[in-house]
Order: sequence, then C-alpha cells, then structure tokens
Amino acid sequence: MMWKDKYKIGIPLVDKQHKELFDRVEKFVEALRKDEEWDAKLPEIKKTLAFMKNYVVEHFDDEEVYQRKIGYPLQKEHHLIHKDFTEYVMQCAASFEKEGYPEKGVQQFAGKLLAWLINHVVATDLKMSEFVKKDGDL
Ligand SMILES: [Fe+2]
Ligand SMILES: [Fe+2]
Repeated sequence: MMWKDKYKIGIPLVDKQHKELFDRVEKFVEALRKDEEWDAKLPEIKKTLAFMKNYVVEHFDDEEVYQRKIGYPLQKEHHLIHKDFTEYVMQCAASFEKEGYPEKGVQQFAGKLLAWLINHVVATDLKMSEFVKKDGDL
C-alpha cells in the first residue's frame, strides 16, 4: 500500500480524497510494471489519465473551498501550486494522446505523479491542518 495513515492531515474530506488519489496512482504504477506488452497497458493508462484530469481538479477545488472557509492565510500560494500541477497533468495527457502514449514519457509521468503527490500532501497540505490546530476553533 502506498497510502499510509501518517499521510492523514486530519481533515476527513481531504484525507478521503488523498487516499483515493494514492490508490489510483498505486494501481497505475502496478499496471505499468506488469510483465506484458506496452499496448496491453494502454486501456489502464487512458483510464487513469481520464480519472486524474477530473479528480485532481475536483480535489484541488474542494481543498481551496475549505481554505476559504477557514480563512487560510496561504490560499494564494497553495492555489498557484495546484494550478501549476493541473497544467502539468493536462499537458501530459494532451501530448500522450497526440503521441500515442510513449512508454518513456508515461513512465516518467507516473513517477512524477507519485513523488509530487506524497510531497504535496506531507509538506503543503499538512500546513492547512497545522493552521486549523493552531487557530483552535475549527
Ligand atoms: Fe491535497
Ligand atoms: Fe493541496
């Protein structure tokens, strides 16, 4: 399991979405590692990219709505990080579609997706719950 309880930041909706993201990325990485022809992996690759394009945006939006609700002081910075990553995902998806899902590019994308996700959750998203805890009343 790639998801670990230590990645929980203590905001139930966000934790649930993070777990879903980790689970999907895990399935994706496993599918890429399978000992079979690259072409056989294309349906899973396409499915994951379609899911990511929707779910990443949905998750980022939900997180940002929550930040506005709690008056989070780092909203702007956090939004820009989300925006950059959304653009990266969209660009990769578009170019893979055009280029026929090249193995090297897709493998690199999967690695980056996983690394980014862990990093963002444990460093950037965690700051939201630290703010909530410090503020005390939420
Ligand atoms: Fe997040
Ligand atoms: Fe975030």
